[in-house]
Amino acid sequence: MAENAALIQVLGAIAYGELKAYDGAKAEAEGAPTEEERRWHRQVAAEELRHHKGFVKRLEALGADPERAMAPYHTALDEYHARVSDDPVEEAMFGYLGEGIADDLLQWLQKVAAPATVAFVDTVIADEVGHEAAATKQLRDLLEHTPNGRIRAAKAARTMHAHMLWSGRSGAAPLMAFLRLGHTPDLVRAIVGGQARRLRAIGIRLWLPVPDRIGPLKIAS
Ligand SMILES: [Fe+2]
Ligand SMILES: [Fe+2]
Repeated sequence: MAENAALIQVLGAIAYGELKAYDGAKAEAEGAPTEEERRWHRQVAAEELRHHKGFVKRLEALGADPERAMAPYHTALDEYHARVSDDPVEEAMFGYLGEGIADDLLQWLQKVAAPATVAFVDTVIADEVGHEAAATKQLRDLLEHTPNGRIRAAKAARTMHAHMLWSGRSGAAPLMAFLRLGHTPDLVRAIVGGQARRLRAIGIRLWLPVPDRIGPLKIAS
């Protein structure tokens, strides 16, 4: 029963994250400079909406009220997505690394969720592989064409890790839901490994220490 409550919290965090991803993709489609880009962002938006609805269904299947399950994550995720920077590199990095964490959490959810959820999450991950490939390419192009692009990107990654992910009280809220499901060292390793891999994919080598805490929670190493 406690396990079920923890899973509902995790699914609530993911369901709301997918809704934010949908809003973001829709906004990108509206602002896209070419028809080709507009089409791509529209496709992504449709996929994010499918993810959101699917997770809402999983919540209902567990007997949860989806709105209530998502509510605790509004502040953290709204703040994260509303963050605007006058540095386009920083803005792009926050988008790239933030969606990356969401993807790694999905991989990890596969290990703890029931078969019906696992089957659905497989289809979500298949979509996200495409989103990540496109985001990686777009970011590499941006860094190529921006003076000191990689240096600025590395700095943005450090900012994000320091303030949003590990120490930020509200920023860490969605992660806390996952930590309550257990397997903490695995989860932290998946996230740190995923971030390092994504940074390498855009040509940045950054030493990422495994944090000794996430939000208010101490992690035994
Ligand atoms: Fe998604
Ligand atoms: Fe996505």
